[in-house]
Amino acid sequence: MATQKNFQDIISHCKEYGFIFPSSEIYDGLSAVYDYGQWGSELKKNIRESWWRSMVYLHENIVGIDSAIFMHPTTWKASGHIDNFSDPMIDNKDSKKRYRVDHLIEGFAEQLATTDQAAADAVLASMDQLLAADDFAGLKNLIETHQMKCAVSNTCNWTEVRQFNLMFSTQLGSVADESDTIYLRPETAQGIFVNFLNVQKTGRMKIPFGIAQVGKAFRNEIVARQFVFRMREFEQMEMQFFVRPGTQKQWYEYWKEARMKWHLELGIPADQYRFHDHVKLAHYADAACDIEYNFPIGFKEVEGIHSRTDFDLKSHQEHSKKKMQYFDNDLDENGKPFGNYIPYVVETSIGLDRAILMVISEAYTEEDLSTEEKQDSRVVLKFPPKLAPIKLAVLPLMKKDGLAEIARELVADCRQQFYCFYEEKDSIGKRYRRMDALGTPFCVTIDHQTKEDGTVTIRHRDSMEQERIPMSEVKNLVMNALK
Ligand code: GAP
Repeated sequence: MATQKNFQDIISHCKEYGFIFPSSEIYDGLSAVYDYGQWGSELKKNIRESWWRSMVYLHENIVGIDSAIFMHPTTWKASGHIDNFSDPMIDNKDSKKRYRVDHLIEGFAEQLATTDQAAADAVLASMDQLLAADDFAGLKNLIETHQMKCAVSNTCNWTEVRQFNLMFSTQLGSVADESDTIYLRPETAQGIFVNFLNVQKTGRMKIPFGIAQVGKAFRNEIVARQFVFRMREFEQMEMQFFVRPGTQKQWYEYWKEARMKWHLELGIPADQYRFHDHVKLAHYADAACDIEYNFPIGFKEVEGIHSRTDFDLKSHQEHSKKKMQYFDNDLDENGKPFGNYIPYVVETSIGLDRAILMVISEAYTEEDLSTEEKQDSRVVLKFPPKLAPIKLAVLPLMKKDGLAEIARELVADCRQQFYCFYEEKDSIGKRYRRMDALGTPFCVTIDHQTKEDGTVTIRHRDSMEQERIPMSEVKNLVMNALK
């Protein structure tokens, strides 16, 4: 019987079984930065490949690129990140702890709601108004009037509210000079926009078409304490779909459906997802929604789908003085070519790390296997086989009598097609449990009977059922499960 999933248990499991480690842990880690271990990086690669396949290989009008992390600083002026990619912050003078103002107020309102829901709603409504008006003095006043306290110092001794840009900056070249400041990209999308003309011309792309990219992004997140859900260095999988102005609504709907289909193909049930339509739209968007997944910490955004109009290309055209136009020689209803225009863009943007956390959270299962005779339980990661880091474990019953050699031959043969793992330490029972904890869908045991009749025992992870099959069928059985 499966029990309730606990976020802390999942985090511990990720570390204990080589999926995700705190970065530079021997120096006590670095806040909101994580490393993927031997199994985490396999899982990451599998999810990345599943996305790439669905976007690039299965759409003949989408191509992929790999643009640099460092970009010309004007890129970020044009994209609006230098002026707008910031959050209002406030520091507590006693603890020196910095808070995002909205998080501080929301935390207070959450507490207040336990005794007075109406008062909490009023606080949140005031906050929304003040944030929309960029009224920093008003926000500070709201915090002080309600005596909102720092969780560390327990005092209300606050600094002014200030904007804090989330981009990391560094210097280009050896001489540090203000004019040489460059930024670590906070999203991969701008690498696509600045290459729009290059790809369109060299690929002879015809609208509608898309450019996809997977890569690192960096944000100096202030409140970052939800494991790989909110990191300072993370990976995005983004796709910009360039369309004729006026058709963006229909493509927005297309991509909402297509992306949800991908999510469901990960083997996650539909009721674990929901769309969250944005009511307040950014000034450049004409529609936007998130796909949210029901994490153990509640429904949260995994992916954003945004209809971004021609904002980015137009802005890059203004700042670079290069024409970002497309000539459309298809005919309109009057038989005239649509001619030159700046394309509109529908974007799909998913965080790879959040997708990993989603897949692990969904797969993580604690099962009580107790019988009347003995207490027993197991933790099993029920990954779909195509995402599992290890597809097959080959376990000789013992090292001697030539069993290890037979097992190694099978491993060598299977490794040509998929990742296969050899393990000879510990009892078979312990080895099965370890493979369950890593999410390995199949284990094969080589025993003395294998030598006699060429058969093996194959164990299925989820049902724990075992069957005897010819060793020659193992590879195909696993390959079929990966389809
Ligand atoms: N180009 C659009 C864009 O970057 P976003 O909503 O800021 O939009 C897209 O980010 C996705 O990137 C999010 O849905 C989330 O999955 C992921 N993401 C954003 N910030 C993140 C962070 N600090 N840590 C991990 N993933 C993050």
